[in-house]
Amino acid sequence: MNKKLKICLIGCGRAGMIHARNYAGNVRGAELIAFCDPVAECLEAATSEIEVPYIYKDYNEALKNPEIDAVIVVTPTRFHHDVVIAAAKAGKHVFCEKPMALDEKECDEMIEACRVAGVKLQLGFMRRFDKSFRRTKELIDSGAIGDVAMIKSNTYGPSEPREWMYDVRKSYGPVGEVNSHDFDTVRWYAGSEVKLIHAIGHNFRSPEKSEEYPEYYDTCSVLLQFENGVIATITGAQYVRYGYDSRAEVLGTKGIVKVGSQETNSVELVTADQTIQRDSMDSWRTLFRDAYLAEAQAFVNCVLNDTEPEVTGYDGKMALILVNEGLRSILEKRPIEITR
Ligand SMILES: NC(=O)c1ccc[n+]([C@@H]2O[C@H](COP(=O)([O-])OP(=O)(O)OC[C@H]3O[C@@H](n4cnc5c(N)ncnc54)[C@H](O)[C@@H]3O)[C@@H](O)[C@H]2O)c1
Repeated sequence: MNKKLKICLIGCGRAGMIHARNYAGNVRGAELIAFCDPVAECLEAATSEIEVPYIYKDYNEALKNPEIDAVIVVTPTRFHHDVVIAAAKAGKHVFCEKPMALDEKECDEMIEACRVAGVKLQLGFMRRFDKSFRRTKELIDSGAIGDVAMIKSNTYGPSEPREWMYDVRKSYGPVGEVNSHDFDTVRWYAGSEVKLIHAIGHNFRSPEKSEEYPEYYDTCSVLLQFENGVIATITGAQYVRYGYDSRAEVLGTKGIVKVGSQETNSVELVTADQTIQRDSMDSWRTLFRDAYLAEAQAFVNCVLNDTEPEVTGYDGKMALILVNEGLRSILEKRPIEITR
């Protein structure tokens, strides 16, 4: 394909506009030509920031535009399945944000629709494009730490949950809200699939919500065992207030790799009261700014060069299974074997 890939953003909210800003001039070989969102204020906010020739309220209308080559699907998760299948049927390449969909069956249908249509499907696990997380994977693959034995991965988010998030049947709680990326990371580093998952959770920061939402938890620990024997722990928390905290550690038979830092920069303030202060990482938007851009470039490259996406629908499905089974383990208070 010798032309630029013409992109339509479907879902112009928080995460959608991160993609829009990247595709509007920063991704080689791509051109953002359309916005689609059913909410007029979202469309207005998007177009007041970035001008595009086409705007749509209904994604079915957008998909009729033959100029559009690819869609970036950043709607609320419950719409991913229908939008992705319609886009594939219309012959558009697809980038879909995580979590991929609501359940395994939806994921299978999305993967199949893209396969039948012969379009690419890339999932939004941007940590795979973060320089430090990627370097860690390179070190593991180079044998620098011997065989991988154990992986730790944590994500703690600062924000107060929105009301709907207290219902974990809708939000999954931290296993979905903050840890879905960790599930992908540990699969990637382990090079295997999970066979056993045991998660426990507790509500520490919002006790006043416990009566209305008895299943709500804001802190969790997830123990995983992989088919190749690797052990992993994932810890998650919401509403920690102090910042966005995402780190990982891979222990091998000959060494260890540690990735991530809680600091935004290398500035240190030391004062006469003999204290040292540093700036804490505020948000995933800051921490993974470059990773989102690299992720977008990889998507465009895989379409233009007709190569496999680095993060596939299968990766999206496997991470989603772990989120679902993790929540089930918390609610049923027992370990769960994962059979495929
Ligand atoms: N990769 C990441 O780290 C990351 C971070 C944040 C969100 N996300 C994911 O991105 C998706 C969107 O999350 P968000 O935080 O941006 O939500 P949001 O609510 O801020 O934005 C969603 C947008 O989609 C629009 N929308 C709703 N139905 C639509 C439809 N049928 N067609 C087109 N647009 C529609 C809404 O009007 C809204 O503007 C979710 O799946 C979320 O999990 C991923």
